Amino acid sequence: MGYGFSREDVAYLGSPAGIAALTEVDRLELTQASHLRDLARVRREYGDSAAALVETVRLRRKAGAKLADAGDWLFTDDALQQATPTVVARQRAARLAGRAVHDVTCSIGAELAELARVCPAVIGSDLDDARLSMAAHNLAGRRNVLLAKADALVPVSRGTVVIADPARRADGKRTHDPAKLQPPLPDLLAAYPGRDIAVKCAPGLDFDRLDWSGEIEVVSLDGAVREACLWSAGLSDPAVTRRATVSSSAGPSFTLTDAEPDDIPEQEPGDWIIDPDGAVVRAGLVRHYAAKHGLWQLDPRIAYLTGNAVPPGTRGFRVLDRLDYREKTLRAELRRHDCGPLEILVRGVEVDPDKLRRTLKPQGTQPFTLVITRIDRTPTAFLCTAIAAAPPPRTL
Ligand SMILES: C[S@@+](CC[C@H](N)C(=O)[O-])C[C@H]1O[C@@H](n2cnc3c(N)ncnc32)[C@H](O)[C@@H]1O
Repeated sequence: MGYGFSREDVAYLGSPAGIAALTEVDRLELTQASHLRDLARVRREYGDSAAALVETVRLRRKAGAKLADAGDWLFTDDALQQATPTVVARQRAARLAGRAVHDVTCSIGAELAELARVCPAVIGSDLDDARLSMAAHNLAGRRNVLLAKADALVPVSRGTVVIADPARRADGKRTHDPAKLQPPLPDLLAAYPGRDIAVKCAPGLDFDRLDWSGEIEVVSLDGAVREACLWSAGLSDPAVTRRATVSSSAGPSFTLTDAEPDDIPEQEPGDWIIDPDGAVVRAGLVRHYAAKHGLWQLDPRIAYLTGNAVPPGTRGFRVLDRLDYREKTLRAELRRHDCGPLEILVRGVEVDPDKLRRTLKPQGTQPFTLVITRIDRTPTAFLCTAIAAAPPPRTL
């Protein structure tokens, strides 16, 4: 939960006295081990402001991994967790460059900051007073940003693109139910009929139950699927209903859509097995990805791909052996290869990798990867060596 900041806290933290105090507090270690000692010291020095000061320094240190240029920002713990990472916010903003945009759930302004770089006019609104005053601090000096307190369900702007990021927590718990988001997704969409709108949602959302006529983009960052974004028809290419955007903190890598070809051959497994990025899988673009990179599927119902080369930026597994999935066979093969550290990847079969590793007890010295899947309904294992990903091309 973290400390509950008031508007008065925010005013103090942004004042010359607060800024000086934050500089002093930032000299402290503030580790778990030193926390009580540091807090007592800050209390002696700054009285009732101690908790707000310590929490702000702690959150600023954490924020660096997610947000660019936020070294002097103010956050609440929840707001930082909910904030869109800069890399992802920047990609979304790039699609809206040149448009006037209203972020109707702006929180502390992580998306606003990126929109303000490329859009002529940006409005941010939210219902939370403390977050709004933090956004005012964080975006001070951005002359094209206007902040206001407003309910996202009651439109207060006209003619702008609307972007929204409903909170995924209800009653302190994470929810995947669109109706339990804050604000609820169905109400939000109903509030802006005919408007160009982009809504950030959880990637676990059931797309098929959502009657969405525009594009659904699934975004991953550094290998983890982070969000799905619904883009209304006016903001998307009519030929595109699904997009995967695979990004990395080192720079954007690639985007793929269902408007691209998905014709792939049916062939025996090649030299390599490739596990496509989760955004590609979640967006249902495994065949499109395969077609783009000259790969094919191990089985039409399974998301593992195979081929004779590994796409840049992707981890591949070089196939040494194709085996029946039988513990006795596997144990003998692992022993023959002097297998030690064993990574087990499973898709399409009921196998618990940790349990299987304990059963197989590899005791050799060489690292291997075992890919277990089914081909034509037959459980099959591939003994592989893994290679690290080559750097991705910067093509976004
Ligand atoms: C997930 S956060 C948004 C994070 C933001 N996109 C960012 O990157 O920092 C959701 C925000 O929606 C706000 N909110 C919830 N219900 C709202 C409503 N009906 N109207 C306006 N804001 C609302 C919450 O106060 C919260 O700040």
